[in-house]
Amino acid sequence: MITVKKTAASDFPRLAIIYRDGFNEPPYNEGWTSGQTLDKLKLFSKYCEVFSILYDKELAGFLVLNPNLWKPGEVMFGEEMAVDKNFRGRGIGTFMMNWMVDYAKSRGFKRVMFFSNNKSGAYKLYNKLGFSKSDEVEVFSKELNQKNRVLK
Ligand SMILES: CC(C)(COP(=O)(O)OP(=O)(O)OC[C@H]1O[C@@H](n2cnc3c(N)ncnc32)[C@H](O)[C@@H]1OP(=O)(O)O)[C@@H](O)C(=O)NCCC(=O)NCCS
Repeated sequence: MITVKKTAASDFPRLAIIYRDGFNEPPYNEGWTSGQTLDKLKLFSKYCEVFSILYDKELAGFLVLNPNLWKPGEVMFGEEMAVDKNFRGRGIGTFMMNWMVDYAKSRGFKRVMFFSNNKSGAYKLYNKLGFSKSDEVEVFSKELNQKNRVLK
């Protein structure tokens, strides 16, 4: 059975490994350490909502939602999601995305949006669940070349 709960601090070390492994694989190839992903999860928990996904009571993944990224109160933004490799293909990703939609609805939001790496293999999943590429926004970006910046 798949269940969702607010992430407890004690979940962070395991989730940091799931996060690291999920994004060190292609197409992302981030090269993150578990220390870095632990820091990222702690930062997310300060500014966003972090949820743990349990499969038969075992920690199997996580979902990070940001209700304030764009049009607060209207758009619920999915920031990050990963499922432990050993638990993939069992419908957990599908469950999480449907849960995100229901949760956003229950909070009175009008839409769910998220960015996706354009090489992501999960497009099929997104389309199947009724998500399509937005024709409303383009994402612009500029590298700032700041060396050795430490995020606190
Ligand atoms: C994307 C992810 C969360 C999906 O988790 P999951 O629990 O395996 O998803 P599901 O079991 O619900 O799979 C749903 C469908 O999508 C497909 N799918 C999911 N992720 C896929 C991927 N990366 N590449 C190809 N197909 C994928 C599955 O094959 C399945 O297809 P089917 O219904 O035709 O069998 C998981 O692959 C993951 O953690 N990937 C690394 C991190 C990532 O890409 N996160 C999302 C971007 S922020």
